[in-house]
Amino acid sequence: MAVQTIAPISDEEVALFRLLRQVNVAPEASQRATAVALGVSLGRLNALLKSAVAAGFIQISDRASADRRQRFSYVLTHRGAAEMVRLRDQFLARKFAEYDALHAELTGTTSGYIPTTHRTQMMQNNLAPIPELYVSFESAQKMKHEAGNLTSHDLTPRQICDLELLMNGGFNPLKGFLSEADYNGVVENMRTADGHLWPIPITLDVTDAFADTIELGQDIALRDQEGVILATMTVTDKWVPNKAREAEMVFGADDSAHPAVNYLHNTAGNVYLGGPVTGIQQPVHYDFRARRDTPNELRAYFRKLGWRKVVAFQTRNPLHRAHQELTFRAAKEAQANLLIHPVVGLTKPGDVDHFTRVRCYEAVLDQYQPSTTTMSLLNLAMRMAGPREAVWHGLIRKNHGCTHFIVGRDHAGPGKNSAGDDFYGPYDAQDLFREHQEEMGIEMVDFKHMVYVQERAQYEPADEIEDRDNVTILNISGTELRRRLQEGLEIPEWFSFPQVVEELRRTKPARSKQGFTVFFTGFSGSGKSTIANALMVKLMEMGGRPVTLLDGDIVRKNLSSELGFSKEHRDLNIRRIGYVASEITKNGGIAICAPIAPYATTRRAVREEIEDFGAFIEVHVATSIEECERRDRKGLYKLAREGKIKEFTGISDPYDVPKDPELRLDTEGQDVDNCAHQVILKLESMGLISG
Ligand code: PPS
Repeated sequence: MAVQTIAPISDEEVALFRLLRQVNVAPEASQRATAVALGVSLGRLNALLKSAVAAGFIQISDRASADRRQRFSYVLTHRGAAEMVRLRDQFLARKFAEYDALHAELTGTTSGYIPTTHRTQMMQNNLAPIPELYVSFESAQKMKHEAGNLTSHDLTPRQICDLELLMNGGFNPLKGFLSEADYNGVVENMRTADGHLWPIPITLDVTDAFADTIELGQDIALRDQEGVILATMTVTDKWVPNKAREAEMVFGADDSAHPAVNYLHNTAGNVYLGGPVTGIQQPVHYDFRARRDTPNELRAYFRKLGWRKVVAFQTRNPLHRAHQELTFRAAKEAQANLLIHPVVGLTKPGDVDHFTRVRCYEAVLDQYQPSTTTMSLLNLAMRMAGPREAVWHGLIRKNHGCTHFIVGRDHAGPGKNSAGDDFYGPYDAQDLFREHQEEMGIEMVDFKHMVYVQERAQYEPADEIEDRDNVTILNISGTELRRRLQEGLEIPEWFSFPQVVEELRRTKPARSKQGFTVFFTGFSGSGKSTIANALMVKLMEMGGRPVTLLDGDIVRKNLSSELGFSKEHRDLNIRRIGYVASEITKNGGIAICAPIAPYATTRRAVREEIEDFGAFIEVHVATSIEECERRDRKGLYKLAREGKIKEFTGISDPYDVPKDPELRLDTEGQDVDNCAHQVILKLESMGLISG
């Protein structure tokens, strides 16, 4: 067997790496102390510093010290931090290659360790520390100050989640937001340009306007929503992605019924920036701090307890009895300890909020044996990408020190597509995971659908019940559970734990006690405001909940007085209405909105925002444009026809007719009272008002 020749590591590279590492950990140290730490003379140190400064890796600043010998201090730049990480990886890769070559020489076969892909596997199992992208505390303080002068990008909630996992090693081996070559590889065949398995694009999407201000090679500061600098990034790539292709390849279809595809087209910016990230500080979380762990914190915990095998359970839902049974069985099957690892970043729109869920998890944690089970919260922004997502979840759990991962039925499934079919087959995720698990270094524990067998009073995998014709099989689907909660119906003990049900009921009282939003949409003059007014009066007569009317004209006078009728301004207007309505809904009130709201995507965004808190009832006031023009109550249609009002909906500006509203009102030939009554009947049928 041919022995590979490996280029030796040059002395210069080693010296530079040591220097960068030393400046990182002790930027305040004197030159003499730095020289001693590096084992070089002062003259050699000066030469090294000079070339590192010339290369932009280190910055010298005046220390204003009285002591002449300590006049300067040395700070690692963003570029220097990235170079330090690059050299470290390169050294490790070469060491592995050397080992591999030696192995081949001694045994005649290679060791099986692929240097760059599995560079940490030989030295360490799941318990050894994993590389992070943070600089030392001392360097971070200095960098933060310096980064104040850089162009800033305000991260979106999803990007904050992604950045946290990039920086703490949860997304190892990624070193930053994907470059264009990495992105293309990930989209097309789930691999970065240098061959790492990575199924989900981790991209920094920005607006066209922001992208125009950025040059390649520029360092930018990444800030959280309060303006705190979390990291810097050297922008190496800037490109306009083919989003339709990304949707097809990553999510299986360019169908906006998929929440991540909808996000891609309607929330994410048009341009992606890529480049290595230098971590300055973790995003701050004020909730459940003790329950959040970085990959290294979990690895240290497992190390301390001597947990060699750990099976992770991923969830975005409250834990019910079926899940408990599944986790017990998985731990038994893998003979492993159990990590309950719920996602508390972004999940599917409409999910139970994470505050409620964590209270539910804590309520059932004492059902588990504390010496074999622990729970930790993961700030991941899920994409609901089914099979690809399962592989991604596996890689993330491997980084968190786990050896096994539970994949159940329809893992990270996004629900139905726009044709009403499931996006993925129920076991597609298991198949894709199985295909890659050896390379991933984490083993799947797969489960079929669990159901309750009444006669044996226990949960069993549906496909293992041999006497299915002679026993009673019980199951409550997610939809059925939501219905029961909404209607205040009984939830049996065999399905969930009383503490969990109580917690869920506290957050989501029965529908007749929750807030909701009625959202009228239609042409100007269609009758929206008149019907909305009538509805408001009827609801106030019933009493019980405060009612607020956000009529188009009222909003434009009070909330949006500076806005016109361009697409951008109309969107902003509707989003403001949506925001106010969501707050009213969240606090248990009734919001009645009556704007034109001509764009379907904006209406959908408002729906999603509100459905987190209560029902959203879209009412299309379907008066035809001809009828509205004939009535022309405000004389605006005439002006629009004469071109005196520009961008007039239905005349010179588009209106997307709602495809699937909760209610469509035909106003022609019907009086207002009757139209408002139809809305009342709809609300009653949805359980929002009692009969
Ligand atoms: S939007 O598109 O939802 O933001 O519009 P909205 O805020 O509901 O519009 C409120 C009223 O503005 C008057 N108006 C126009 N409508 C449409 N297009 C143009 N260019 C325009 N200019 C003024 C119109 O009377 C709307 O009132 P309604 O209550 O719908 O009759």
